[in-house]
Amino acid sequence: MKKKLQSLLIIAIAFIFSAQLDAQTKDNTTRMNVFISSLMNKMTLEEKIGQMNLPSAGEFTTGTATNSDIGNNVKKGNVGGLFNIKGIEKIKAIQKISVEESRLKIPLLFGMDVIHGYETTFPIPLGISATWDMAAIEKSARIAAIEASADGINWTFSPMVDISRDPRWGRVSEGNGEDPYLGSQIAKAMIKGYQGSLTKNNEILACVKHYALYGAPEGGRDYNTVDMSHIRMYNEYFPPYKAAVDAGVGSVMASFNEVDGIPATANKWLMTDVLRKQWGFKGFVVTDYTGINEMIDHGMGDLQTVSALALKAGIDMDMVGEGFLKTLKKSLSEKKVTQAEIDLACRRVLEAKYKLGLFEDPYKFLDAQRAKTEIYTSEHRQIARQIAAQSFVLLKNKGNVLPIKKAGKIALIGPLADAANNMAGTWSVATVQNRSVSVLAGLKEAVGNKAEVLYAKGSNLTENATLEENATMFGKSLNRDPRPAAEIRQEAVKIAEQSDVIIAALGESAEMSGEASSRSHIGIPMVQQQLLKELLKTGKPVVLLLFTGRPLTLTWEDKNVPAILNVWFAGSEAGNAIADVVFGDVNPSGKITMTFPQNIGQIPIYYAHKNTGRPLEEGKWFSKFRSNYLDVSNDPLYPFGYGLGYSAFEYGNLNLSQTTLKGNQTLKATISITNKGKYDGAEVVQLYIRDKVGSVTRPVKELKGFQKIWIKSGETKTATFNITTNDLKFYNSDLKYDWESGEFDIMIGANSRDVKIQKITWNK
Ligand code: BGC
Repeated sequence: MKKKLQSLLIIAIAFIFSAQLDAQTKDNTTRMNVFISSLMNKMTLEEKIGQMNLPSAGEFTTGTATNSDIGNNVKKGNVGGLFNIKGIEKIKAIQKISVEESRLKIPLLFGMDVIHGYETTFPIPLGISATWDMAAIEKSARIAAIEASADGINWTFSPMVDISRDPRWGRVSEGNGEDPYLGSQIAKAMIKGYQGSLTKNNEILACVKHYALYGAPEGGRDYNTVDMSHIRMYNEYFPPYKAAVDAGVGSVMASFNEVDGIPATANKWLMTDVLRKQWGFKGFVVTDYTGINEMIDHGMGDLQTVSALALKAGIDMDMVGEGFLKTLKKSLSEKKVTQAEIDLACRRVLEAKYKLGLFEDPYKFLDAQRAKTEIYTSEHRQIARQIAAQSFVLLKNKGNVLPIKKAGKIALIGPLADAANNMAGTWSVATVQNRSVSVLAGLKEAVGNKAEVLYAKGSNLTENATLEENATMFGKSLNRDPRPAAEIRQEAVKIAEQSDVIIAALGESAEMSGEASSRSHIGIPMVQQQLLKELLKTGKPVVLLLFTGRPLTLTWEDKNVPAILNVWFAGSEAGNAIADVVFGDVNPSGKITMTFPQNIGQIPIYYAHKNTGRPLEEGKWFSKFRSNYLDVSNDPLYPFGYGLGYSAFEYGNLNLSQTTLKGNQTLKATISITNKGKYDGAEVVQLYIRDKVGSVTRPVKELKGFQKIWIKSGETKTATFNITTNDLKFYNSDLKYDWESGEFDIMIGANSRDVKIQKITWNK
């Protein structure tokens, strides 16, 4: 009785509290609306359109910066925000012009691509996703927000949550891989890290991008056509964007590609019906870089036409292209757009500024003291080092070559061994590139005088300069060695021959993935493979330290190299984190979030595929008149969720609380995991479900949960998953989100391939 009363009391208090909160939110919204309405009453049409204009200050661009006279335009009220500018003093000077010299003194937004850290950089997003550690991911975004805001930035163009199943597409490096469930969890964690409660001066506005489907370009070629069914959009590609909206993301960036034949930037269904009406998004939408102008090349009309189309679709802010600035006034006079449409877009931009607290204090993010003390701190770097080490994925470790001892002679060979300027990875515009720790520096520091590290470059990154030059965006060139390849290689082989173990730092440069860096061959470049072959010939144990921004085809390497450690581009502390794992001070626990194919012909390849009407029998790799290839099995080289460690985890039986369920019951699934190895370590335990019969075809398995568990050597732990009907839901052919009665497979395991299975029936 007493307990019942207590819980009633708690419910009542919670109710009053939430009612109070509701009232408070309503109050705040009303206050904001009144403020903005009164401000907008004073605004001219030009000033309203000015708020919808986002020029680039031109410091680091992915296209042509069109606006050279920023100060003047700010003064005239032609600018709503600015990006591609770094440095608190510069930003402060421009904010000052806006709030002291423009007529209505409206503060500016200052945006930047703070993608995986600010000056302290973390692993590239694909790498950090391999940690499967939401707290670590949130922390990385938090630190990025602290540093960026300390330097005057109040808006980041992140998180990028585009699902992709095509590793040829260079921008897979910026996303979280192939899975909608995992991608959604990461989206939430990042937004929480950036925005927090959006009240403090170290919490900044996030921008989820690129809405939508940017990760599915035909042929993996960046900016290329996208075409997919709605049912696939809703089930497989939309979830992370929606999760971001649910998490309260303040802004959304439109993607470059078309959706249903209409570029996203002019797609009213996408921007208004789905985003706002179905998902309830309340923030503002910005185009991607010259996204409006590019619709001329898409074949949608001239600048005036496409600008009007964008506004009418629901775009609020125009990045770089000045289509709004140059044409909206004319379009209004010609009745091609309405005053209400312009007002709405302007209001949404002003609301973001209000929510950030810029009207209260336009200098809120411009505290010069913070810029001196909160950026690139040793505490931030320490965390970056820990997270980097967690992101590495041990793909192979035959004969336990890794970890290696801090003793004897260690040969460190390869074009990425002494390449500090590449460690921060793609899209790390704010950082000081050369300041990252190279592998050479990291290993030397770790061994001290216990061992000798012998270094040689061994090869250029690519056989010819063109690919390397094409890829170089932010000055990360690897200083090509002009000597013939054989000579460079020979020098390295000599060093390797004198050593006890060889670490080959090979792969892609930072800019061989990322924007506009699609590849049609996704192997390690030939000249590096030749080097690797020569190194293997020495008969010494070889560790391939793989740098990459995407899954690579590593079939040959997997067959021939005893140990492969995928280290992505790990950020500021790359070299130290690599040393931590290579020498066994940290046990690797990363697991890949994108399938590694055996060859390019298998692409797109992903674990959550459909069964087809002619599936291949388990264990076979070819059968006539079945869905398969003549020349390669259907298996990936490394499946989604895969990664080894220095411990050996053994999974026990999968136990279910029941095998027949009804309605809203909860199914409890448990499994024991024993660490049979000598190292303590973390294991990412993964839950997959297969819906065996549906009104539409369903994937052969879908990730529905995961837990990262720390298990000491010799210890056994139990992972428990509570499964509800929410985990069974999907969008059916009417795009209704619900679950259907029937049989399901419940699977738990170490990756998407190696799972324990139990069957259940769950009826409504
Ligand atoms: C990219 C965006 C980025 C923008 C601003 C574009 O080229 O697609 O991801 O946020 O540039 O730098």
